[in-house]
Amino acid sequence: MKIAILASEGAPYIKSGGLGDVMEALPSALARIPGNEVALVLPYCKKILDNSAYETELVSQLYVALGWRQQYCGIYKLKNRADGVQVYFIDNLYYFGGRNGAIYGDLDDGERFAYFSKACLDVLVALNFIPDVIQCNDWQTSLVPVFLKAQYYPFFPKTRCMYTIHNIEYQGWAQPEFFDDVLALPREYRDRFDMDGAINCMKAAIETADMVTTVSESYAKELMYPYYAHGLDSVISGNSGKLTGITNGIDVNTFNPETDPALPAHYNAETFVEGKAACKKALQKEVGLPQKKDVPLMVMVTRLAGHKGLDLLCYIARRLLTEEKCQLLILGTGEAHYEKFFLDLQAAFPDRVAAKITFNLALASRIYAGGDIYLMPSKSEPCGLSQMNAMRYGTVPVVHATGGLRDTVPPVDEKGENGLGFTFQSYNADDFLSALKRCLHLYHNCKPAFRALQKTDMEQDFSWDKPAGRYMNLFHKMLNT
Ligand code: GLC
Repeated sequence: MKIAILASEGAPYIKSGGLGDVMEALPSALARIPGNEVALVLPYCKKILDNSAYETELVSQLYVALGWRQQYCGIYKLKNRADGVQVYFIDNLYYFGGRNGAIYGDLDDGERFAYFSKACLDVLVALNFIPDVIQCNDWQTSLVPVFLKAQYYPFFPKTRCMYTIHNIEYQGWAQPEFFDDVLALPREYRDRFDMDGAINCMKAAIETADMVTTVSESYAKELMYPYYAHGLDSVISGNSGKLTGITNGIDVNTFNPETDPALPAHYNAETFVEGKAACKKALQKEVGLPQKKDVPLMVMVTRLAGHKGLDLLCYIARRLLTEEKCQLLILGTGEAHYEKFFLDLQAAFPDRVAAKITFNLALASRIYAGGDIYLMPSKSEPCGLSQMNAMRYGTVPVVHATGGLRDTVPPVDEKGENGLGFTFQSYNADDFLSALKRCLHLYHNCKPAFRALQKTDMEQDFSWDKPAGRYMNLFHKMLNT
């Protein structure tokens, strides 16, 4: 099967969050399936252009029509990728290559990603890569199914399009003028974009794509409710017949405590007791915490954003630190008030708390390995990957039972058995604290059970093999094959 995967970010080239990880591992898993040919198309961002590790060659140049604009598009092919995925970068200095810093957040993001979505389709035509299936992701490529249907049908009469929602919070809103000025689509497409008198690109994608998926089974159900859907609940329910949840995997080769080059010691499910102890000791030193072997180290690697459940942690942090023997380490950047809160907490409890306000992937790995307990109290979580990374490294998760966290962390019983971690049901700080206390109790008073749980966590199959198979089943269903 010929599959084109279109996205605004993809690790290792450029990544701001989980979407980037998925765009590394899913194409790779699909390419491993015999008979598949997989192309991944990404924007040629400055960070990729400047990185000499990525050898590319210019294969074609064209102009993309965007409303009244004719915009340059260079197609660069990546030369050195080993897993069989063919990666193409879309080059345009004005939209991508000439900009510094973050991938998103510019005032013209709408136009930039409309350009990208249209350019992707033009590029597939130029390369004569006529896919059976296009898989596109989040609001940035939400225009693909619409352009495909409205303007590109003659080139791709048999191509089917799957649209995947990684996070419904970001929908691609624009002023009404955007429709004529940038999209220049036929009038009859106007209604599917219309929401509260403005343009909503994600809505149009959900209504137009042949299939819609999201990144966990529970999130697919949650999206029917206003609490989770950020205004799109009725659009989702109206299209529920074509919506499926497929829980993500993680890249088990990158996230492997036996080989991860960032770690000071390596281990597996048999040798983790010594291995993790060595990693913990080194980590405590690295972040400036006392090197205490028997004090549980609670860790968090996260964007410091509201929906990650930081309010709950802020609310209970002082109580937790006063009532329990523990250390807390948090790594991440984000909203200024959270950054300040954790720095203040570190100043108040210098022997107990370390706040690393930075983005550092190697340190993140050392935290997954050196921690004992992983906190993820997200208010909502489409899938979440770091709880799986943590378990793969033998760090026991304490999570809010929502979205992908509910699907990947079944709760343990009172003996710490028959599950993978500790969960709480309602988004409530006291419930979070009591889940944490249950976990700490197991750590302090039932060490063998805690160790057995770590081992079970490490032995789970979080690889992409099964989810990739589920994507394939849906692809076949779309194609009637
Ligand atoms: C988004 C979601 C996260 C998910 C990731 C990959 O970042 O917020 O829950 O794991 O996408 O699908």
